[in-house]
Amino acid sequence: MRSGLKELAFVTALLSAGVAWGHDGASGVVRERMDAMSAIGKNMKPIGRMLKGGAPYDPASVAKAAKAIAQHGGEALTALFPDDSLQSPTEAAPAIWTDWRTFSAYADDLRSSAVALETLARDGADKQAVAGAFGTLAGTCKSCHEAFRIKK
Ligand code: HEC
Repeated sequence: MRSGLKELAFVTALLSAGVAWGHDGASGVVRERMDAMSAIGKNMKPIGRMLKGGAPYDPASVAKAAKAIAQHGGEALTALFPDDSLQSPTEAAPAIWTDWRTFSAYADDLRSSAVALETLARDGADKQAVAGAFGTLAGTCKSCHEAFRIKK
């Protein structure tokens, strides 16, 4: 009984750490941008699943998720990176502030490619075209992370 409770506590702690996406200990603007990135990630997942055939393809859901991602792009994203906000446990790279022009261009790309995806899905483009736009959008995540995120 005793050891059973101990195990339960351990599993609960493990699960909540997972749910927090490694946000443990983050606060202020670092926490805010981690939450924004998590929201972006949560909207990417179902789109990917639908396009890979793991779930029925529903263009309206794709458009809705893409729109939510677009809202986190551009200035909404750059506003979450005030000068030298490198408080632990951030994974942001200092290069963000020495190469702000590139960083903000990626933030704009994120928005424009999400808008392009939304438009295609909403206008009933074929699945192939939608998948292409999704690939472009995913490419912006990858490019920005490679340049400006230090994976810990
Ligand atoms: C303009 C640059 C940029 C773009 C574009 C971008 N990210 Fe990020 N992302 C970052 C940075 C920088 C961090 C680290 C933030 C921190 O830890 O303070 C991050 C962190 C994350 C995290 C981890 C959040 C956490 O809880 O620590 C996820 C998930 C993520 N991004 C998903 C995405 C996805 C999915 C996309 C594309 C749809 C994307 N990002 C596009 C810069 C970007």
